Amino acid sequence: MKVYLKTYGCQMNERDSEQVMRDLLARGFERTSRAEDADVVLLNTCSVRDMAEQKALGKMGMVGARNRGRPEVVYGFLGCMAQARGESLLAEVPHLDLVVGTQKFHRVADHVDAAVAAKRRKLTLEGAIDDLRFSVVDVGEEDGSQNTIREHTLAPRQAAAFVSIMQGCNMHCTYCIVPRTRGAERGRPIADVVAEVRSLVERGVKEVTLLGQIVNLYGRHEFPKSASGASPFVQLLEAVNAIDGLERIRFTSPHPIGFRRDLVDAFARLEKLCEHVHFPLQSGSNRILKAMHRGYTVEKYLDLLAELRAARPGIAITTDIIVGFPGETEEDYASTRASVEAADFHNAFVFRYSPRAETPAAEMAAQHSEETKELRNHDLLAVVDKLARKHSGAYVGRAVEVLCEGPSKTNPLRLSGRTRTNKIVVFEGRPRHVGELFDVRIMHSSGFTLYGDLAPDLHASTEAIAEPALSS
Ligand code: SAH
Ligand code: SF4
Ligand code: F3S
Repeated sequence: MKVYLKTYGCQMNERDSEQVMRDLLARGFERTSRAEDADVVLLNTCSVRDMAEQKALGKMGMVGARNRGRPEVVYGFLGCMAQARGESLLAEVPHLDLVVGTQKFHRVADHVDAAVAAKRRKLTLEGAIDDLRFSVVDVGEEDGSQNTIREHTLAPRQAAAFVSIMQGCNMHCTYCIVPRTRGAERGRPIADVVAEVRSLVERGVKEVTLLGQIVNLYGRHEFPKSASGASPFVQLLEAVNAIDGLERIRFTSPHPIGFRRDLVDAFARLEKLCEHVHFPLQSGSNRILKAMHRGYTVEKYLDLLAELRAARPGIAITTDIIVGFPGETEEDYASTRASVEAADFHNAFVFRYSPRAETPAAEMAAQHSEETKELRNHDLLAVVDKLARKHSGAYVGRAVEVLCEGPSKTNPLRLSGRTRTNKIVVFEGRPRHVGELFDVRIMHSSGFTLYGDLAPDLHASTEAIAEPALSS
């Protein structure tokens, strides 16, 4: 039995898919990267913008159409769109069998097994008929579901892994559907996260990214502050930083609300925390930030950046910006543009505002045309591109620490890795370099990607790292 599982959306979804695939492999399913060969087709969906939903709906429609004549194939939507739209998806997609929400990833394997068995049973009883639909909609809340995303299937020499530390979000950003798709904030115990990271390190992992929708508010409902006033998140960072053999810690995404002094100080104290923060600003206009319910001003945000840069010089900051929020005037947009320049971001994701069902912003008057959003999007991308090129250019001629992740996606003959500042570096190396940390000299940059060489002097030390038996 072959399973095809495609993931849309954020790193959290990627992580959830990894857990789902692991459960299915444990039941004897095989993974396939070709939907047309699969006996089970699962799409782990995203609802954050309309485009993400349309992609998953389009894909499911296409695979179903291509598979006509194979009524035994099982089709499922998992994750955020499954959660937000629930049963209505069954009416919308006639061949769909499973709709499994974000608190039920650990039940996917059971549902798939049941669907496979039921469809086969019907097939033998009823002969070849066109509609063998088996429908399950499992989108309820489940206590403790945040603790079910905890196992990993690592590729050979995999060096970086995601670790989900919490689920949900209690903020009410007026544009955002995530609180509805992911539920209320629920954190995992520090000891469980530490045990998970420790076991990853024992299996060769050197870098972890701690995931949550509002990661710096981790544990605020469950765990107390420390005696010295450190938030649960900072306590978690301290505990993870103390794990021997772990080299790098990242987290995503923090919110400016609750990004307090203890977290800024962590960047000065905890050496494994990488010099990169993905720190969503969303808008550079205070009026729009207010309409978004973000709870901070641009000035407050820029002050935080200054504190971070003082605590850890050279730290790279990236961000998310939404353009074309309802009521965003030319003046508001100009403030966003100016703030992006003032913040001197290394990179930014720019999103055109997409109205989401049952969110306050979708009901606001003064919705913008797609044209206006596109114009602002295009204009802001030029600013971001200029900043990214400037920052990347500054690496040329320098040797930087790279954690090699594997073959480059654009050129599989080369290897690719990331700097501590989260820049992608492409270089020539050997298979034994995969999963290792070493220095690469940057020769040139193309906007977002850096290209480098293992300098001869560095090459020798690399071999010592890669083949410790020879050097000890
Ligand atoms: N929890 C994260 C973001 C999750 S969604 C945070 O608060 O930072 C990822 C990004 O998608 C957001 O940062 C925002 O920029 C964008 N986004 C969310 N809702 C959107 C919408 N309705 N239209 C366009 N972009 C949106
Ligand atoms: Fe959405 Fe805001 Fe929560 Fe982020 S903090 S997930 S943007 S509601
Ligand atoms: Fe999308 Fe859900 Fe992530 S809506 S961005 S997949 S939390």
